[in-house]
Amino acid sequence: MYTSVKGTEEYLFDDAVIFRSIENKARRLFTLYGYSEIILPALEPLNVFLRGVGGTSDIVTRQMFRIHQKEDIVLRPEGTSQVVRSYIQNSLDKKKEFVKFFYLGAMYRGENPQKGRLREFHHIGLEVLGSGSPYVDAEVISLGEYFLKQELGITDFTLQINSIGCSADKERFSGLVKRKGEALAGRLCGACRTRLQENPLRVLDCKNPECKKNIAAVRVNAQDYLCSACMTNFQRVQEVLNRVNVRYEIKDTLVRGLDYYTGIVFEFVTASLGTQDALGAGGRYDGLVAQLGGTQTPACGCAFGVERLMLMLKKTAEVPVSVSEKVFCAPLDAASSQKAFELAALLRKNGIPADMDYTGRSLKSQLRYSQKNNVTIVIIIGEEERTSGIYTVKNMKTSEQIKVPEAELAAKVKEILTT
Ligand code: HAM
Repeated sequence: MYTSVKGTEEYLFDDAVIFRSIENKARRLFTLYGYSEIILPALEPLNVFLRGVGGTSDIVTRQMFRIHQKEDIVLRPEGTSQVVRSYIQNSLDKKKEFVKFFYLGAMYRGENPQKGRLREFHHIGLEVLGSGSPYVDAEVISLGEYFLKQELGITDFTLQINSIGCSADKERFSGLVKRKGEALAGRLCGACRTRLQENPLRVLDCKNPECKKNIAAVRVNAQDYLCSACMTNFQRVQEVLNRVNVRYEIKDTLVRGLDYYTGIVFEFVTASLGTQDALGAGGRYDGLVAQLGGTQTPACGCAFGVERLMLMLKKTAEVPVSVSEKVFCAPLDAASSQKAFELAALLRKNGIPADMDYTGRSLKSQLRYSQKNNVTIVIIIGEEERTSGIYTVKNMKTSEQIKVPEAELAAKVKEILTT
């Protein structure tokens, strides 16, 4: 027997319904906020991520699926660099276009799989390009919060925010972390000792529990590294969030694991999923368009992990049920299957979800099946019905049975379904 690749998931029945309902809700809400969908390939040149996400990030150094060595093609590990590549390729940077994009799709990271951490997972992402206004940061953050709370009904999360500042501020921040980190280097994990040399801010993002405890001593206050423009911006975003009642906490160790961030960074974290605690995350990336060869363009965005949202939804009671057929055509014998086939087609033409038995089951077992699958009406078709053209319509909710001529069948079924 073949089994699926480790770290991938597949969705059957209710799981597929939950998955699509998350996507549909996102699509509806983001459209309402003026975002347009961007549909991009799963394959990208390696360099988009090397230059975008950064050569020292885990995603790029350890987790990229290279699928074509010669051309350096990879399966995309994230969407932001890719959206920026497309923005530049379509000359939107030259036209100085302000655009708001959303995307839905699979991302690939060669991680060690565990609950909530997959090698193929799905992002719902937002990217706003062409404005440095703090209202953009506030919109992305508040829309993310609204999506979780109001659209999906997920309330068990905390919104954490921080500002890592512009590139000069980031340098200052890095220098401070490096100095403080080196003072306790003996107590940091091996990876963090390397990080201190290569990319000191990453130390603050360490997931090693022992190291994390020691790193807690490496506190750096935003006032010590943010320039006045970045500080004003950070405060302004907070003011706007306060005005629209979005609750957040400032976490001064929040830096994010991707190199392109500048300014505001944020994460929606939950206590109910163990170590994989981020439901979604994002921030501002004002340098990325220029870094990938375009003209300097400020930008901000975020992305949610659909699988983690699914885990959250399954913890709460309200899980949607698979759409099951409302009407079931039950032939009593092989000769009645032809009529069942025609009646099911007739009902579907009238917009009524209908199905029939293809397995030659007894009426008793067809009724049991219908009960189990939330069927509202069973149409019984035997020799007598076939010859008279009048069918037995059984209302499964009331157990009431009536006789209906074929010409009136669709109308009668509709009437029962709407009462
Ligand atoms: P990220 O934090 O790497 O950010 O991913 C965003 C979200 O994707 C995470 O918060 C998590 O819910 C989910 N996620 C990440 N890795 C996995 C995995 N291996 N398995 C399951 N879910 C996962 C980004 O990718 C940025 N592009 C977000 C962004 C958009 N920043 C600005 N714009």
